[in-house]
Amino acid sequence: KGRVPALHEAFAETFPIGAAVNPATLEAAGPLIARHYNSLTAENHMKPEEIQPEEGVFTFEKADVIVGFAKKHGMRMRGHTLVWHNQTPDWVFEGKDGGPASRELLLSRMKSHIDAVVGRYRGSIYCWDVVNEAIHDKDADILLRRSRWLELVGEDYIQKAYEYAHQADPDALLFYNDYHEAVPEKREKMYTLVKNLLDRGTPIHGIGMQGHYNIYEPSIEEMRITIERFASLGLQLQITELDLPMFRNDDKRRDVTEPTEEMVEQQRVRYGEIFDLYREYKDVITGVTFWGAADDYTWLDHFPGKERRTWPMLFNDSHEPKPCFWAVVK
Ligand code: G3I
Repeated sequence: KGRVPALHEAFAETFPIGAAVNPATLEAAGPLIARHYNSLTAENHMKPEEIQPEEGVFTFEKADVIVGFAKKHGMRMRGHTLVWHNQTPDWVFEGKDGGPASRELLLSRMKSHIDAVVGRYRGSIYCWDVVNEAIHDKDADILLRRSRWLELVGEDYIQKAYEYAHQADPDALLFYNDYHEAVPEKREKMYTLVKNLLDRGTPIHGIGMQGHYNIYEPSIEEMRITIERFASLGLQLQITELDLPMFRNDDKRRDVTEPTEEMVEQQRVRYGEIFDLYREYKDVITGVTFWGAADDYTWLDHFPGKERRTWPMLFNDSHEPKPCFWAVVK
């Protein structure tokens, strides 16, 4: 087979190739990550609960380790994430009197969090997932997720987050990031949300399509429609959390201890088709990030209530390239 090319070198003319990491994966897979990827995202350690566990107490140590690794190896760094309903400590939403926080208090906390985090990494982080997963998943007529942000601030919490982030680092590219982006109803909601922000003059520059797919779904055609639809807003697009586990969503089997030949082949073909599609749209796609680095560690294997191996990455447990790697770099 000869020399294994570095993944990111195969995309030198198209877009950076990223991995989501944490200090433990940098420890366990440092050489693999440094060689194959040229962009990093913190899988967990820049989220509000990690960075500001108590009001005014900022814990940047682990995030700094990740940023330091990126710098040392000349990689880009994406920021993830500033305003989310999940992994945000309860104190954020609590008022001084024990009741819920007022709109004013919550907005001032949002601003000081964004100032501190975006300000600290100004010049080191080139783009931020400012607001993450703000859309309501069901009911076509309900746009926004019923989060505490929405409940306590109102709909403009989203716009405010972008304004604060832009003030904190006018050079950073600001993204809206969400999942199930290739499902028609969700896609239209994402489009509507971002279009409304643009119509109001909000500083937003890109859409993050998370890319939590599997080796069978969704279809390449739905992915293409999504790219076209979002690109029509004139924004740049990034795939921010790509992974292709070996199971369909409704496949509940827990006893598959090794991927079958059919799965390995299906994953090879699918990864190949997906990167062919991304190459076609290289003028609007400015980054593709995997939500992990190799099969030995992935959030999917620890999904509460569904713990099992899923083998979603391009590299196996021993950090060797899988057939799908060769389909992607070909
Ligand atoms: O912090 C404890 C740790 O002390 C303990 O040892 C461990 C034992 O299971 O649990 C740890 O916390 C877990 C944390 O990951 C770190 O491993 C949480 O229970 C677990 O819920 C958390 O999951 C993360 C998840 O976001 C939470 O929402 C995943 O790692 C992370 O990959 C995932 O990432 C999200 C993106 O941010 C947004 N898009 C979807 C994506 C996948 O869900």
